[in-house]
Amino acid sequence: MNKETFYITTPIYYPSDKLHIGHTYCTVATDAIARYKRMCGYDVMFLTGTDEHGQKIEEKARAAGITPKQFVDNIVAGPGGIQDLWKLMNISNDRFIRTTDEYHVQSIQRIFRRMYENGDIYKGAYKGLYCTPCESFWTESQLVDGKCPDCGREVKYAEEEAYFFRLSKYADRVRALLETPGFLEPASRVNEMIKNFLDPGLEDLCVSRTSFSWGVPVDFDPGHVVYVWIDALSNYITALGYENDRYHDYQKYWPGVNIVGKEIVRFHSIIWPAMLMSLGEPLPKKVFGHGWLLLGGGKMSKSKGNVVDPYLLANRYGADALRYFLLREFPFGSDGNFSNEALIARINADLANDLGNLLSRTVAMVLKYFDGQLPAEREAQPLDDELTGMASALRGAYEKEMESFALQSALVEVFQVVSRANKYIDETMPWALAKDPAQRARLATVLYNLLETLRITVTLLQPFIPVSCEKAFAQIGADEENTTWEKAGVWGCLPADVRVQKGETLFPRIDLAKELEELEKLTAPAAPKAKPVLPEIVFDDFAKCDFRVCKVLSCEPVKKSEKLLKFQLDDGSGTPRQILSGIAKFYKPEELVGKTVVAIVNLPPRKMMGQESCGMLISAASEVDGKEKITLLTLDDAIPAGAQLC
Ligand code: ME8
Ligand code: MG
Repeated sequence: MNKETFYITTPIYYPSDKLHIGHTYCTVATDAIARYKRMCGYDVMFLTGTDEHGQKIEEKARAAGITPKQFVDNIVAGPGGIQDLWKLMNISNDRFIRTTDEYHVQSIQRIFRRMYENGDIYKGAYKGLYCTPCESFWTESQLVDGKCPDCGREVKYAEEEAYFFRLSKYADRVRALLETPGFLEPASRVNEMIKNFLDPGLEDLCVSRTSFSWGVPVDFDPGHVVYVWIDALSNYITALGYENDRYHDYQKYWPGVNIVGKEIVRFHSIIWPAMLMSLGEPLPKKVFGHGWLLLGGGKMSKSKGNVVDPYLLANRYGADALRYFLLREFPFGSDGNFSNEALIARINADLANDLGNLLSRTVAMVLKYFDGQLPAEREAQPLDDELTGMASALRGAYEKEMESFALQSALVEVFQVVSRANKYIDETMPWALAKDPAQRARLATVLYNLLETLRITVTLLQPFIPVSCEKAFAQIGADEENTTWEKAGVWGCLPADVRVQKGETLFPRIDLAKELEELEKLTAPAAPKAKPVLPEIVFDDFAKCDFRVCKVLSCEPVKKSEKLLKFQLDDGSGTPRQILSGIAKFYKPEELVGKTVVAIVNLPPRKMMGQESCGMLISAASEVDGKEKITLLTLDDAIPAGAQLC
């Protein structure tokens, strides 16, 4: 019999930096859903990957002095990279797509061409205010004093050829889709989309760029690269073999469920369905927009330098503990505040105390009172009914929550039963029963009920803490057969004479105060990372640069410029040399007069703010407290002007 299929995806993340706890949160949640569906018997396809094209990555690579492909290879597949993080977190993805994969690039070209040929992509003009030297379009509101915000120069109205997607054509169908119950969840996000984007009217979308080249070229119009969101969104189908021969299970798995963060719901619930409409393909079954993890109430971001490192936490507490915390602490659809304190408190309370104690006490008692193997005699009492009833009903309650991706609520259900079992130990007092040989059957029953409760709860915890569950099964004498989804709904599946095994403590208790102090130290802002060394050059290239020692004759600010200082320099030639340097933020002009500095003097003269600069002063760029700092290189005053560096 063919199993029913279930296809689920995470966003494909930008490999512009190492990933942080927010990305980990989304991937872990999606993994739990995928594992749950597999447990339920579905044929699951779970996809994640990386979104590797675009201007930002091109720029980052340039700054690092390597090619964009080298840059992303390192972040995605290098040591400590994204794929390593998912291994560390025990992510069970079936496939990993990189948008630089050849098959994907080929599919994107075909998809773009299909939409062009069916008339949904057309050539038009991108209109706006343009800064020619920066090759950038700006909107009125982005300008600074009416000038280019990057270089301060004049902008002019310009038009540039570009391709557009007829998004407007699909407005009515997209609106109807958004209004379809269950398509976009949580339901609260539906109104947001309609009010902010559909009501004001959908405009056609510019889907090609000519200002940079790190992207998928439009094959019938080279010079244009496909807009990165068209490239990225398509991953959900190209990874199944849509318009390529790398895979062949598009028909089998699509449509699927797209799990995404709330900030990209717009792309997934409007642009993505419209693209599929244009291609005549089935629409996603569901888009789920999860909430953000915040830090101190604000968004985490690399640029703010306030990100939490998942590698550090998973290595310290174990992937399972981190997975559990993320999925138990925060309701999946809403924002939540991350803190180290909440993490440790949650591990201690739920995993070390509630679950860990239930397991270790139960196993220890079976070992102590029965030498590790229960006798088969039984003696039930009414006191047992509440626990056995709750454990028997757990699968149903859990399933209801899991089906609506209410991961937190599903865990709450499981831990209510765990707590009830701990209370049952206090009520039945096995240590007292153990003193009376006549109570042997009763004691065996109590311990069996505890083991059964563990079997059921741990079975249902597998999607969340898979490694720990395996270890717990070994301890309570459960096997593959009695820990299935089906058996999680049936009481009494462990053999009556079950044998337990002593094992390690799954979740050691953490000393909160001490650990917080440790973490504080470990996560203190790291020393700025050294820039990687640029690729090797030949000596002749170096020898072509004419570096000269100069004396500063005069230095003054440049009118209307915040950045520039104008220098007159004695370069030993007898004629003063004028150089402009962008260090005004770091020096008062008068303090530089008389200094001995270095300039490269054989660069072509360049005009800045209407003034000529003949060469460049050499400075050192560094980062102090997250801020850029530029220090002018100064030399021993004994070195004469005109001396050449060699
Ligand atoms: O947007 N809290 O990639 P991205 C919770 N490449 N989740 C967070 C988070 C936080 N603080 N920060 C990030 C992109 N995420 C595109 C996607 S898909 C076709 C292209 C998670 O690297 C969340 O799921 O910026 C968010 O949507 C995703 O990472 C964005 O990752
Ligand atoms: Mg983002």
